[in-house]
Amino acid sequence: MKIVTFDTYEEMSSYAADIYEQQLKDKPDSVLGLATGSTPIGLYKELIKRNSQGRISFKDCITYNLDEYCGISPENEQSYKYFMNHNLFDYTDFKKENLHIPNAYDGNYEQAGRQYDAQIAASGGIDLQLLGIGLNGHIGFNEPADFFTKETHVVNLTENTIEANSRFFDDIKDVPTKAVTMGMYSIMTAKKILMVINGEKKYNIFKEATEGKITPSCPATILQLHPDVIVLYSKI
Ligand code: F6R
Repeated sequence: MKIVTFDTYEEMSSYAADIYEQQLKDKPDSVLGLATGSTPIGLYKELIKRNSQGRISFKDCITYNLDEYCGISPENEQSYKYFMNHNLFDYTDFKKENLHIPNAYDGNYEQAGRQYDAQIAASGGIDLQLLGIGLNGHIGFNEPADFFTKETHVVNLTENTIEANSRFFDDIKDVPTKAVTMGMYSIMTAKKILMVINGEKKYNIFKEATEGKITPSCPATILQLHPDVIVLYSKI
């Protein structure tokens, strides 16, 4: 596991974008695992800029997002689909047909989860997986538990996560209590993993994830077993 620390969020985001630039140089048709949340926004802004400057192109990339809230329509501005469109996809040359987000709105989510995993596998697995981390150590929405879950699955979000995510909603009562998340198999079989973390309030979980005992009660600790992980941390 490689760890790089930064004084500012901007420096971290620019370094993360350099990793994408290299990835796309090495493999223009990369399969990218993407995340939502506030941490990747600086990276996404930088990718949009570099894409508009012609430094990078996403036209041959395939994407798979980590997770989606249950029961929120994809058009709803609280959905992760909306987030991705408005923070990255709409301003870059990704092809719409290559973008995937777990189906958490209609149908049988468990079955949809199996299909999602099968699609990822059919794409050859993920080349570069982006992760943030929750204050409780969740990755994707793999919440602390007694075991790691392999497949894409439905989860009950913890109170801690609901509270953390309430900052994006008018009322905490509006925050969905369930989500569909990629499981550990697709994450851990990614060829490379990039985790971005920022803010002093995440310092302790950053330390626990990277140095603590490997346990499903802090899901991010599993990354210590992966052969190619880079963790970026900025204080601010
Ligand atoms: C989002 C995701 C989550 C977030 C985590 C941190 O797709 O999978 O694990 O990465 O909750 O969120 P922020 O960056 O908002 O602190």
